[in-house]
Amino acid sequence: MFEAEVVLKHAGQLLTVPSSAGGGAPDDVGLIEDGALAIAEGRILWVGPTGELERHVKVTPKTETYHLHGRVVTPGLIDPHTHLVFAGTREREFAMRAAGRPYLEILAEGGGILSTVRATRAASEDELTRLALTRLNRFIAHGVTTVEAKSGYGLSLEHELKLLRVAWRLGELHPVRVVRTFLGAHAVPPEFRDRKGDYVRHLVDELLPAVAAERLAEFCDVFLDEGVFSKDDARRVLERAMELGLRPRMHAGQFRDLGGPQLAGKLHAVSVDHLEHVSPAGLEAMAAAGVVAVLLPGAALSLGMTPPDARRFTKAGVRVALSTDLNPGTSMTENLLLMMTLGITQMKLSPEQALRAVTDHAAAALGRSGQLGTLAIGAEADVAVFDVGDWRRLSYHFGVPHAEMVLIEGEVVWTRESIRRVPARRGRKPGRKTGEGTATGRGAT
Ligand code: NIG
Ligand code: FE
Repeated sequence: MFEAEVVLKHAGQLLTVPSSAGGGAPDDVGLIEDGALAIAEGRILWVGPTGELERHVKVTPKTETYHLHGRVVTPGLIDPHTHLVFAGTREREFAMRAAGRPYLEILAEGGGILSTVRATRAASEDELTRLALTRLNRFIAHGVTTVEAKSGYGLSLEHELKLLRVAWRLGELHPVRVVRTFLGAHAVPPEFRDRKGDYVRHLVDELLPAVAAERLAEFCDVFLDEGVFSKDDARRVLERAMELGLRPRMHAGQFRDLGGPQLAGKLHAVSVDHLEHVSPAGLEAMAAAGVVAVLLPGAALSLGMTPPDARRFTKAGVRVALSTDLNPGTSMTENLLLMMTLGITQMKLSPEQALRAVTDHAAAALGRSGQLGTLAIGAEADVAVFDVGDWRRLSYHFGVPHAEMVLIEGEVVWTRESIRRVPARRGRKPGRKTGEGTATGRGAT
C-alpha cells in the first residue's frame, strides 16, 4: 500500500472530471459524495469515498491531513486563453463602445490593441511582472491553477521576447502554472502600417525563429478575422511555427467567419477561440480533427455581442472550453467562475458541461487532457477546494470568489486560512480521532 503525503477528506462533493483523453463522456463530472483524495509526489495517488480511504492508502502521522467539512473539491481550474502580460487599461474605450463606437473602428484608428501595445512597450519587465502577478493572485482566488498567457502587445522582436520572458518568469515566481503562447500576429504594429505583408514576412523570418530558439513559447496563435489577419496570413505564420516546433491555435470568427476552423482542422490546431461566427462546415472540420472550441463569454459581454450557442458545438461533437480571455480591451476579468455562469445562461451549456469546459476541455485546449483538469489517479495534484455545499453553486452564486484552498502539484499554495490542518494523530488511540466524522456541511455555504 502506498503512503499518502497529503490527504483531503470529507469533501461533501468531490468531482473527479474523467478526462476526454481517457474516454470521459461530455457530461460526466465524476461526482463522489463524502469524497477523499490522497496525494504523493505531486500526483493523485487515490480518490474515492472517505470511508474507503484507509483501505487503499497508508495514512501516517506524517501525512498532512485536511478535514474539509463538506466543502466541494474539483480539479484546479484551467484558463486556456489569456493575455496576461500587459500594461495600461482602456476604460475610456469601454465607455466609447458602450456609446456605440465599434471595436474594429477604434483599432483601425490606432487605438484598441495598439493603445495597449504603446503602454506595454513603455513598461519594464519588472513592471509587467508586478502587474501580472496581481492578476495571477486574482485567478487563484477563483480556484485557477493553470493559465495560458499570450504575448501580442509587443509586436516587435524586442518587445515580444520581453513579454514571453515575463510570462516565463511568472511561472517561476508564482505557483500558478503559466503556459506560454506567441501571438505576434495579434495586430499590425504602427511601424508596418499599411504593410501587412511585410509584417507577416518579419514574423515568419525573424520573430518566430527567435521565439523558437529561446524556447519561449509552446504555442503560436494568430488573430484571424476581419480587418486583422487573413486565412492566408494565418496559414503562413502557423505553418512556419509548426516547422519550428510550436503548436498552432487561433483567434477566429469573433467578427466574421473567414474559414479559420477549416484551417485549424487541416493543421490539427489544439483550439480555435472566440467563434461567435462559425459555419457548420467549420464545426465539422473541428470535430474531425479534435480541435477544441474555446468560447469567451467575457469578450461577448464586454463588447455587447451575442454569444455563440454552445449547443451547436456539442451537437457537432466539438469539445467546448471556456476562458476569461483576460485582456484590457475586451474582457478585463480573472473570474473564470463567472465565465461558467455566462456559459450556462448565455451559451446554453449545462452545469456539467461548464465544469468540464474549465477543467478537462480547457486542459485539452492546452494539449494536456489527462494530465491536468482531472482528479484521476496519476494526474497532477492540482486541486481547488471551494466553500460551497453544492458544486453547482460555483456558477449559480455568481461574481464572487468561492475558492478556499488551492493545491498545485500536491502542495497547498493558497488558502483563505479558514481551513486548519488536522493535528497529527500521534499516540492517539483508534476510535478517538478528533476532527473526524461525517461530512456535516459545517463551514460550507
Ligand atoms: O481575444 N480579439 C483579439 N484579441 C483580444 C482582444 C485584445 C484587445 O482588445 O486588447 C481578444 O478579444
Ligand atoms: Fe484573446
